[in-house]
Amino acid sequence: MSGGPARVVACPDGPLLVRGDVEVVDPDGRPVERHRRTVALCRCGATGIPPWCDGSHKVVGYRTPRPETPPAP
Ligand code: FES
Repeated sequence: MSGGPARVVACPDGPLLVRGDVEVVDPDGRPVERHRRTVALCRCGATGIPPWCDGSHKVVGYRTPRPETPPAP
């Protein structure tokens, strides 16, 4: 894979979208095969196909932390 720097987008209430040339490895450091240039990594823990997102975050109602609101001046 080639074409610019890799980019990771943290989707609100969803996965991490990874675009670009990044090697994904399992906890033992073994490469996990990618079939697409853009992949979605689960961060809710509910997926049935780790490390990939399978949409289960919607079923379990996964919510990412909201940015803190700055204090009023
Ligand atoms: S983030 Fe989508 S299944 Fe976990």
